[in-house]
Parts: sequence; structure tokens; C-alpha cells
Amino acid sequence: MLIKRSRGWDIPERLATPESVFLDRRALLGGAAGLMAGSLLATRPGFAAAGPYPAPRNEAFTLDRAVTLERYSGDYNNFYEFGTSKTVLPAANALKTEPWTVKIDGLVEKPFEIGVDELIRKAGLEERLYRHRCVEAWSMAVPWTGFPLAKLVAMAKPTSGAKYVQFQTFLDKAMAPGQRSFFYPWPYIEGLTLAEAMNDLTFIVTGIYGKPLPNQFGAPIRLALPWKYGFKSIKSIVKVSFTAERPKTFWEGLQASEYGFWANVNPAVPHPRWSQASERVLGTNERVPTLIYNGYGEQVAGLYKGLEGERLFV
Ligand code: MTE
Repeated sequence: MLIKRSRGWDIPERLATPESVFLDRRALLGGAAGLMAGSLLATRPGFAAAGPYPAPRNEAFTLDRAVTLERYSGDYNNFYEFGTSKTVLPAANALKTEPWTVKIDGLVEKPFEIGVDELIRKAGLEERLYRHRCVEAWSMAVPWTGFPLAKLVAMAKPTSGAKYVQFQTFLDKAMAPGQRSFFYPWPYIEGLTLAEAMNDLTFIVTGIYGKPLPNQFGAPIRLALPWKYGFKSIKSIVKVSFTAERPKTFWEGLQASEYGFWANVNPAVPHPRWSQASERVLGTNERVPTLIYNGYGEQVAGLYKGLEGERLFV
């Protein structure tokens, strides 16, 4: 017998995606897929055989709100490598994403390096609608394309000593002007426990809005962790390391009292300098209540049993 478990974010698709432009585009692409397959491939230059955008949507991941239009989400970004302004899009044009490889090292059977296109071919792609809640109290809801991080963990074959996964962004002062500032502890580092890394929600992202990631979103490969504050969703990843020790993250290095390792969304735990009780939705500027674990508690709360003494929500 097939039992469909209803989850917190499961609501009818028609309520989740009223963004007509996005839907129209998908309908057009989907309907014409057979005819147009050839011309739809290779959206990334040099990515001829498998330009798999738009990828099939995984219907298990729906939303309680409208998808944010790209003109809002794509013009209000945090990407400190290219500056501290939200209008980082023009500066992020300098990000050179080809060629791009990701190194897998640390406590694994055999370290390796893999090109992002090969990684995509091996893992396959799907689309998921996720909410995203920044620690600065703004939010968006977007269709990410990617694959579960668990697939990459399986390829990496961590050894028994591995307890954490550390992610690192590129380091290139010539390309990224923000990295010339000594104020920040470059490169950007983030981390998860291995259990968090294996959770079904933990998503490696290579695309958005049915196409490869535009630079300002963290091209060509980033994380999406919808139950955590956005700073955990590291952009432009070049290295994934399996470690025994908890990674020291970029924001922790800068201000540990304000930005901790766990950073799970919780409206009841204010940031030391502002409330986290509500959030401003990009595009509409509507203020809506923030939900514990950003609404994904059913999926992730179990990860934190027995860790109640930790600063789980900072
Ligand atoms: N990753 C890197 N390498 N550099 C950054 O400055 N900013 C983080 C996160 N990942 C950041 C990063 C923050 S604070 C947020 S809210 C999200 O990226 C923003 O993602 P978006 O610009 O796609 O909305």
C-alpha cells in the first residue's frame, strides 16, 4: 500500500507557484521538450552532452508561498567576495566559472577532484522549491536545481573517523575584490555534521529558475540548506573535506557570539542585534512570521535530539 506522508511544506502546487512567468516558461519548455531537446542542451558553454535544464521537479518539495521573481532574488544577494552591497550582480560578472573543479579530501577512502559538469552527469539533477531565510531577516522562495549532498557523500566514501563535512569557496584576490579586504577571514568556509550532510533536504545547487546558476547566486555550485540561516548555504564551492573536528566557519571566525556553527532558524531566539520573529519577503516586502526550522522541522528536528545544550539557533 502506498502511503503518502503529508509534510509541513506540502501544499498544492497551484498555491506555491503563482509566478506566471516562471510557469509559462516551464510549460513552454516542458511541452516542447521532445522537439527542442537538442537546442536546450549546452546552456553552460562547454557543457555539450548534458545541459539538463530545466530538470524534472521533485514534487515532494513544495512551498507555502509564492516563488520569488528572479528580478528580486537575483538583484539582492550576499556574496562578500564581490563586495558587501546587495547589488553585487555587476561585480560578480568577474567570477570565472570555467573550468571549475571540486576537490574531495580529508577522511575519505581516496581523495579525488572532479569537474562540475562530470559531477552533474554522475549525480543527475532535479528541481526543488525551497524557502531561504537570511539571518538578516529577509527571505525568498526559489526553484533550485541540483542533487542531494548525500549523493556526493556516497561518491566520497568517508572513513569511520569522519564526523563533519567542511566546504570551501574559491580564493582568488585578483578575481574577487572583496577578498582583498583583510577584515574577513578568507576563504569562506562552512560546515555540517555528517548527519546533516546526509539529510534529504541538504541540497547541492547548480541551477535556479530552470537554468544554470547566474554568478551572483554562487555559480557554478553551492549549497541550499532551507532550515538554516542563509549564511550556511555557501557559494562557489571548490573543496569538500571530511573531518573529525567541527569546522571553524567564516562568520564564526568573524563574530562567534552572533553567528554560530548550527544557525538553525528559530523565531524565538533573537540575533543579539535584532529580532528573528518575522521576515521581509523579497519582492512583495510583506512581513510574515518566521517558522521554527524555517518550516522544515518535521524533516530535521530529529537531527538535534540530545544536542539541546548546544547553541543550535545561533
Ligand atoms: N557564500 C559565500 N562564498 N560568500 C557569501 O558572502 N553569503 C551567504 C550565503 N553564502 C555568502 C555565501 C549569505 S549571508 C546568504 S543570505 C546567502 O549566501 C545568499 O544567497 P543568495 O544571494 O543566493 O540569496
